[in-house]
Amino acid sequence: MNPAARHAQLCREIAELDHAYYVLDAPKTSDRAYDALFDELRRLEAAQPELVHAGSPTQRVGGAPREGVTKVEHEHAMFSLDNTYDEAAVREFDRRVRDGLRTGSVVHYVAEPKLDGASLSVVYDRGQLVLGATRGDGRVGEEITPNVRTIRGLPLTIDDPRRMTLRGEVVIYKRDLATINQTRIARGEEPFANPRNAAAGSLRLLDTREAAERPLRVLFYELVDRYYATHHEALAAIRTLGLPTHGLHRVCDSLDTLLAFIAEFDLRRSQLPYETDGVVVKVDELAQRDLLGATARFPRWAIAYKYAAERVTTVVRAIECDLGRTGAITPVAVLDPVTVSGSVVSRASLHNSDYVADKDVRVADTVVIEKAGEVIPQVVSVDVGKRPPGTQPWQPPTQCPSCGHAVVRVADEAALRCPNASCPGRLEALLFYFTRRSGMDVDRLGESLIKQLVDTKLLRDVADIFALPEKRESLLALPRMGDKSCENLLASIEEAKRGRTFSQLLTALGIPLLGSVAASTVAGRYRNLRALLERPVEALRDELAEIHGIGPKMIDSLCAYLADPTQRAILEKLLQLGVVANEPEPEPVVTSGPLYGSSFCVTGVLTRPREAVHEQIRAAGGEVLDRVKKGTTYLVIGDKVGDTKLKAAKKQGAQIITEAELDALLQRDMRSS
Ligand code: IVH
Repeated sequence: MNPAARHAQLCREIAELDHAYYVLDAPKTSDRAYDALFDELRRLEAAQPELVHAGSPTQRVGGAPREGVTKVEHEHAMFSLDNTYDEAAVREFDRRVRDGLRTGSVVHYVAEPKLDGASLSVVYDRGQLVLGATRGDGRVGEEITPNVRTIRGLPLTIDDPRRMTLRGEVVIYKRDLATINQTRIARGEEPFANPRNAAAGSLRLLDTREAAERPLRVLFYELVDRYYATHHEALAAIRTLGLPTHGLHRVCDSLDTLLAFIAEFDLRRSQLPYETDGVVVKVDELAQRDLLGATARFPRWAIAYKYAAERVTTVVRAIECDLGRTGAITPVAVLDPVTVSGSVVSRASLHNSDYVADKDVRVADTVVIEKAGEVIPQVVSVDVGKRPPGTQPWQPPTQCPSCGHAVVRVADEAALRCPNASCPGRLEALLFYFTRRSGMDVDRLGESLIKQLVDTKLLRDVADIFALPEKRESLLALPRMGDKSCENLLASIEEAKRGRTFSQLLTALGIPLLGSVAASTVAGRYRNLRALLERPVEALRDELAEIHGIGPKMIDSLCAYLADPTQRAILEKLLQLGVVANEPEPEPVVTSGPLYGSSFCVTGVLTRPREAVHEQIRAAGGEVLDRVKKGTTYLVIGDKVGDTKLKAAKKQGAQIITEAELDALLQRDMRSS
């Protein structure tokens, strides 16, 4: 095939795959296969630059910043919609519509979701996307074509030569908003209050590359040109052209069907990946729309019915500070339990001290709670009117809540940290991590017992756990420690001493950046702790650099850890106390299976041990990665997910799925194979 034909074919294939992925939500191929096509296209264009044209998928990201703000006058004014909040107002709208038409006219309405994002106007001409613009004041908007071109799933070319002006909503999926906000908070930036602000802000970014990194989507809901007799036909045509639409409209031939749609849609909408805040009711027949016309601001043929937002109020009983194993201090609001979006919330992260100060959240305040992206409970605002007398603004801790050491604020970080390496609170957090199922799995060592053992100095580091069998007397002297529970505890420690792999031990140590997958790679190479400790750190550095999947930052972190005399002493102590932790022979690599070709990074607290999930993925032919990197297909998230992984997933375009979704993948694939 000649290069020009191959180029055209690649452009078409990639556009089809984008459509399947972003519009139909039904990926047709693995990310790896997609990347291969994309790479081929890039290479072809590098060799023959004359093949590049504006419709090529490589041209989505312009790279050059938009130069200032250019205004465009809309060919057709962009109206806003009159809002209503109850059934009576919908009835009233129906009456006005009928009054405005000839008596006895048959009126059909189209009811469709009111998408909560930023409105967008695009123009295609001779099959090419030629303009993207914001609504602005409805008459004049901002020209944002370079940013609009970065929206995946928006075709750069369509198979229709007519000039077409389309209206749609740019949305950010709920799960993506949660990701963006966690990143922003981690960077000390203000989180977006809602997907609308996030979408609008992203569209107007001057840096097109930054816009390209935002997970924007667009869903069209209007074709302005009068090419069809009815709105529902126009929606069908939009879809046939491969343009993304919501596909959730219903043609209603009576007020009753319309009201029924409004009621039904309210029950379904929380399941949608994007936010909706109501239903838009539109007259279906365009000739009738023309008869009805518009007021200065609103068309007379459409109305928005808005649902009440799912927010609840509750009272802040305390503001606590959580301390992590790295010393990070996070303020958390302890709340009177309330149900929000289907689950009971009794704690809400307040992210960092700036967040608390900005919102002025105080103990005893009545606060409005909402689930951000319907996942993470957030304190939205404080009802100052309900503030009891005598409250004080919350003071960020100046001292570590555990050891009293002065806290530090790391430059460029909003988080406060306890820098004391021997802080008992940090030790408790580390011990808790060390003994979880993903690590050394000492199941009898729970949070409160850990605290007691740290308080009584029976545990000063992680190795001390394995000295506990020698300290039976002291253990039995602890409050609430009976013979039986002491036996169980010691048995679980003995079991952990011999029954864990080296990768579990390495994971349990919580070495920064060394997650369970990297730990298992390193463990596979060195087999046991003794062998690892015997390597001179410099030699180790070179050896690790040779290993696939171990990056330079991990190497720095692991080498720094091994070079630290305190840590080394703890590792030696583990060996002296008889911790075996040998790595078994590796399983043969599976080169087929339902997940073959996809890669997975698993993070957060899951319902089963992470290693077990890894095993299932490997057994199904999937590749397990420690971190999200270029080409990673999926990030599987559990509870308490850290920002870094989410940020990386967003950056690298990995799909974020829950454990349940992973199970569905495994199951679906099992059924079909
Ligand atoms: S039609 C003249 N349909 O709501 C009618 N708008 O409050 C033009 N919106 O600016 C809009 N979902 O950004 C229409 N299905 C939908 C919509 C929708 C959300 C937004 C749109 C508009 C705003 C008006």
